[in-house]
Amino acid sequence: MKLKLAVLPGDGIGPEIMEQGLAVAKTVCEKYGHELSYEYAICGADAIDKVGDPFPEETFKLCMESDAVLFASVGDPKFDNNPNAKVRPEQGLLAMRKKLGLYANVRPVTTFDCLIHKSPLKDEIVRGADFICIRELTGGMYFGEKYQDDDKAYDTNYYTRPEVERILKVGFEYAMKRNKHLTVVDKANVLASSRLWRKVAQEMAPQYPEVTTDYMFVDNAAMRMILDPKFFDVMVTENTFGDILTDEGSCITGSMGLLPSASTGEHTPVFEPIHGSWPQAKGLNIANPLAQILSVAMLFEYFDLKEEGAVIREAVNASLDQNVRTPEIQVEGGKKYGTKEVGAWIVDYIKKA
Ligand code: IPM
Ligand code: MN
Repeated sequence: MKLKLAVLPGDGIGPEIMEQGLAVAKTVCEKYGHELSYEYAICGADAIDKVGDPFPEETFKLCMESDAVLFASVGDPKFDNNPNAKVRPEQGLLAMRKKLGLYANVRPVTTFDCLIHKSPLKDEIVRGADFICIRELTGGMYFGEKYQDDDKAYDTNYYTRPEVERILKVGFEYAMKRNKHLTVVDKANVLASSRLWRKVAQEMAPQYPEVTTDYMFVDNAAMRMILDPKFFDVMVTENTFGDILTDEGSCITGSMGLLPSASTGEHTPVFEPIHGSWPQAKGLNIANPLAQILSVAMLFEYFDLKEEGAVIREAVNASLDQNVRTPEIQVEGGKKYGTKEVGAWIVDYIKKA
């Protein structure tokens, strides 16, 4: 097929991991006869520095004209410690999600057998954990009415029924494709918005009689993820809860550098690692490119290109098995591989596969 990508490397380690993700995309397209074209665009702190806007109109236009967006990461410490900054790199990411209507963020939490020892949790608790968190991405407190002055501030956790219905539908459908177990995570004992979520979910559940639907308060879900992550199959939740729970989920795996994500909705889908821009590691060739590379696998799978996705996953697993790993997950005494070397090894593996 013809595939046109918008490539948004962003800030920090973004450009380095993107280079590897893109190399993998090119290799797979060559191997399977797909016609790949791509164009770079700026976003985040990089775009603020260059044009004063973290998601410029031109970047948006390119995203809209592309089949998919490959996104790396945004963020820069010079903004984090300045509460008075008028524009922030993260606003670029939020604008992209909103303008592209990307209401469904799919974040798989999977473990790799050879990395179980890297998890802070006990082997028997994490081994085999495999669930998907579906995070609502364009509503809730992130986008509700906000106010701030020197004495008071608020963010509104606003949700409408259609917003809740469409994301729950994604949750039920994923559950149908997997082990038919959906956990709706909310805080319905306290929050009105959560009560709407629960009401809508209870109304929809009879349409999916094969799915076991359960409801869990977010505090309990946070605990359950650590005590018994294998309990979960598909979890669906609102924007803020999903943000927090997926960082927690990434720890189960042993490294944040391993988790990809897909954001889909009304317009062009975006594929991005769930980790941030890790500015301290910028240019050091130590960042793990696997989350970016696995995001490329999700991209192919989105277009139903299963073999293409599978070959990437196979290559990633092989690299881990053969200890071709970046420093944060390398075994003691293991050879040193950087971002580039891991990427190159994976590209080479795919070519020969
Ligand atoms: C994420 C990130 C973003 C979010 C930030 C960078 C705005 O933490 O994708 O999880 O909060 O959604
Ligand atoms: Mn987050």
